[in-house]
This record gives sequence, C-alpha cells and structure tokens, in this order.
Amino acid sequence: MSGHSASEMSRRKAQHLEICLDGDSYTVETAGTRLSEVHLVHHALPELDTATVDTSIEFLGHRVAMPVFISSMTGGSEAGYQTNKDLATVAQELGIPVGMGSIRILFRKPEVLDDFLLKRYAPDVPVFANIGAVQLPDTPHEPVFEMVRRLEVDGIAVHLNPGQELFQPGGDRDFSGVLDALRRFIDRCPVPVLVKETGFGINPREVRLLRDAGAAYVNVAGAGGTNWVRVEAYRQEDPVIAAAATEFDDWGLPTGLLLAAVGRDTPGVLASGGLRTGMDVVRALALGAEAAGMALPFVRSLKTGGVARAVDFGRRLKYVIGTAMALTGCSSVAGLRRAPLWVDSRLRADASALAAAWDTGDETR
Ligand SMILES: Cc1cc2nc3c(=O)[nH]c(=O)nc-3n(C[C@H](O)[C@H](O)[C@H](O)COP(=O)(O)O)c2cc1C
Repeated sequence: MSGHSASEMSRRKAQHLEICLDGDSYTVETAGTRLSEVHLVHHALPELDTATVDTSIEFLGHRVAMPVFISSMTGGSEAGYQTNKDLATVAQELGIPVGMGSIRILFRKPEVLDDFLLKRYAPDVPVFANIGAVQLPDTPHEPVFEMVRRLEVDGIAVHLNPGQELFQPGGDRDFSGVLDALRRFIDRCPVPVLVKETGFGINPREVRLLRDAGAAYVNVAGAGGTNWVRVEAYRQEDPVIAAAATEFDDWGLPTGLLLAAVGRDTPGVLASGGLRTGMDVVRALALGAEAAGMALPFVRSLKTGGVARAVDFGRRLKYVIGTAMALTGCSSVAGLRRAPLWVDSRLRADASALAAAWDTGDETR
C-alpha cells in the first residue's frame, strides 16, 4: 500500500474523531437529507397483532435484530481503537451489524492487528472491514484478501471519497481506473463487498454500474450528515483551500433524493448519510433501502454516555421502527419497503430529474 506513514495516518484518524465529536468547536453537518419530504400512510385499522411485527432482516449471512447498522468508522488511533471496540460491543448487544474503519494502517503497522479483531467483541453479528477504493488500482489485492481472512469478517466495505481526498492534506488526486480495479477486487474477494460513499452520495447511474460490477450492496451514503470536506478543511494548513471548502457545504446528493431517484425496485441498496432518528430509518426503508447505516449518532452517544447510552439509542431506533411498521400495517421489513407512501411534489420532481439526468443519449463528457 502506497501513501502516508503510519504515524501520519494515526494522527489523521485521531483528528477526524476529535473534529467529529467536538460540536462546540467544529461544525461538520452542513446539509439536509430531504427525508422529511417522505411520508408513510398511517393506518387506523392496521389489522395486525403487534406481537407479529418482526424488525429483523437477513444481512451478510446473519439474521440481525433490525435493519440498522453501525457505519464504518475510524480505527487507526488509540482513541479510535477503543471506539471501535465499544461500537462492536454495542452492535453485539443490539444484535446489529457493525463496520470498522479503514484497515489501511494494518499494512503500515501490522502490530495493531489485535485492535481490529472486532469479532471478539461482536461474535454473533456481521462485522465488516473497510478500505478506500482509490487505493485499489495501484496496490495488489491479495494482501487485502489475506487480511480479510485473518480478521474473520463477514464482508468488506470499499469507500469512495473523492471529495474528501481533494481537501485532505496529501490526499489522492488520481481517480482513474477505480471502477475497473473494483471489478477485479469484487471478482476475487473472499467475502461480499459493500461499496459506499462517505457522505456526498453515489448517483443512480453509478449505483447501477456498481451493482453490475458485483457489489453485494451499494450504500448510497448521501449528503445530509457528516461532511468530510468540512472535516478535512479543519485540518488544512493552506487557508485558501480551507476557504474553498466552505463552498462545498451543500455539495452532494441528499440521501432522501438519491433513494427516491434510484427507486424501490433496485435490490441491494443501503441508505446512510445524515440518518439521525428511527423515523429517518423508516423513511429510508420505505424508499426501498434494505438497511440503513449511522455513523455520527453512535459515536456521539458513546462519547456522552458510553456503551449504555449507545445501546439505549439503538433500542429507541428499534422501538420507532417497530411502531412505524405496526402503524402502517406491516409485520415485516420487506412489507415496510413496499408500504404505501407519498413524497412531496418537489422531491418527486427532483428525483425524476436526477434519474433522467443521463437520458441525453450522450455518455461522453
Ligand atoms: C469518526 C468517523 C470516522 C469515519 N471513518 C470512516 C472510514 O474509515 N471509512 C469509511 O468508509 N467511512 C468512514 N466514516 C464515514 C461514515 O461511515 C459515514 O459514511 C459518514 O460519516 C456519513 O454518515 P453519518 O452522517 O451517519 O455520520 C467515518 C465517520 C466518522 C464520523
């Protein structure tokens, strides 16, 4: 793996966590998801026994308690290692999947392997590793596969983050050949591959390309939550680039808009980016997502009240999801994903416009 030294990576990861968690000093959420423009139809006659409402789903070969996962977050620093272990503990208690932060540092500093063995803390739920797509064209894939085997994970998330890289001091600049490299990676990877963005979204055409490339899941990871251009801007030493970052405050495709544009009939779609409440999850599922991920809310509750607070946050999510299912007459998550809904006219129009944005007959740029 090329690029930065282990100590630079550790410093960067520690700063990411600090910037994301210190809401008094930093603002990292700058846009909206547009999920508030999506409405489910309340049933006064749900005609079901709520004891039959089942929020569980099948995910990466496991039955998990609800269609929510803890999105990939940082490892790579002392604070990050502890955070990841705590997140894995929370996931195990809640019975939900958990992603770990990028494993890139393991190729620079193999002695931290122990800190990535999260299966010890979450033996009964899916755990997935994480790596950056931009590294895949120039690096051999076999060592990554070998690491995936050693970590005994159930999948690997590959993240797309060109916006973040362009504002990260020393970030990658060459994004050519990533799709091809991803195809080769997915072909030979020993576990299912989830492809995600980190908060600007994967557009509907790219969702199709990635599904065709063999991704088990495409996590649209849209705008509305943590804005990684902002996070990197706080670390920028060049004031001109830091100032340029402010022009990207509402960059990206809002999560709700993306899900509406991709449509309910596309399988293997996951939602994340700015989901903060159980009702956000319900709306994302109603738009067709198979499961929904959250990053910042889980680390924030860990910070304010430890594992117990984060577990309570998850229990609240489950209660909201189950109740919304009951009130829409759905006993299964699959039912919720087909439930009647209405979408405000502006979001409907924007989603159609976005879905049709490639209908120009001209694929060249
Ligand atoms: C502290 C922190 C560290 C993160 N590290 C990673 C990472 O290593 N790999 C990755 O794919 N995404 C990473 N993310 C991005 C999240 O997985 C997620 O895509 C993004 O934060 C948007 O979700 P949110 O609005 O719920 O925070 C990180 C997020 C946070 C808050």
